Amino acid sequence: MARKKIALIGSGNIGGTLAHLAAQKELGDVVLFDIAEGVPQGKALDLSQCGPVQGFDSKITGTNDYADIAGADVIIVTAGVPRKPGMSRDDLLGINLKVMKQVGEGIKQNAPDAFVICITNPLDAMVWALREFSGLPHNKIVGMAGVLDSARFATFLAWEFETSVRDVNAFVLGGHGDTMVPVLSYSTVNGIPVGDLAKIKGVDQSRLDEIVDRTRKGGGEIVGLLGTGSAFYAPAASAISMAEAYLGDQKRVLPCAAHLSGEYGVDGLYVGVPAMIGAGGIESVVEIELSDEEKSNLQVSIDAVKELLEACKGIDSSLA
Ligand code: APR
Repeated sequence: MARKKIALIGSGNIGGTLAHLAAQKELGDVVLFDIAEGVPQGKALDLSQCGPVQGFDSKITGTNDYADIAGADVIIVTAGVPRKPGMSRDDLLGINLKVMKQVGEGIKQNAPDAFVICITNPLDAMVWALREFSGLPHNKIVGMAGVLDSARFATFLAWEFETSVRDVNAFVLGGHGDTMVPVLSYSTVNGIPVGDLAKIKGVDQSRLDEIVDRTRKGGGEIVGLLGTGSAFYAPAASAISMAEAYLGDQKRVLPCAAHLSGEYGVDGLYVGVPAMIGAGGIESVVEIELSDEEKSNLQVSIDAVKELLEACKGIDSSLA
């Protein structure tokens, strides 16, 4: 069987980390693409030289030519600009929408059979626009946000309860912005609902609210600390887990920005929901029961995503 091919569109901080993880895990051969000349080639050379040390033999190449992504099984898109301190993800919309148009056309012409994972922000709008520009089936394009947001939530919960992160299963729904909905009622520590454990450990509701708030603003906290650029290790790790679910037909239920056609009362938008990823791409969306408060929080998040799509349509009339 031929080796799998992983194409990474964008070879910046996340792209380089993705390449390293994909090669270490030998998910397949890796192609780094970027518009910046020399960057993908330089990173590919550097990463190739990790192979003898780390004992992997994935072939890693860098390119500025979309033709080189032909035949890719998985494409992960990080092309665009990241936030600077003080910026929201939505402030990136104008610039990154133009980037999605180029990337969408490159994918359409060269690798229309790939499973595409979008990371570029503002995520819920960019994954929708990338789908529109590429024309790929909705089940073959997905946005990476929920795995990362849930990982941030799980990290903070594990710290609070002084437990291993391995035991924490944290749940986040909605858009990848400050309106995201961390759902405590579905979050557990090895099956024990977080609310119950909080009572046992004497953690009060206001402390849990602080953890939810820190999760919502988790990306901004890192942007503020770094000074330049945004988070890249955990975003890359999160997208790789989604790629593995597809390549291995793992049928994992992961929170991701999936296209909804009626689920959760939403039609035609990409919103963060639990979805099953297997060889068919997004094979199904899991609709869970939510409390009235969770439903209304999710609605706020959905409305924020709708506003972003309207802004996209205002910028590029081909999307209207
Ligand atoms: N086509 C291909 N690559 C592009 C294009 C384009 N039109 N425009 C920019 N790029 C490349 C840049 O040259 C750069 O190498 O995208 C890369 C982005 O890398 P970084 O600036 O390091 O950003 P990164 O941290 O990787 O984040 C990328 O993911 O999480 C989101 O908000 C983040 O939107 C940002 C994206």
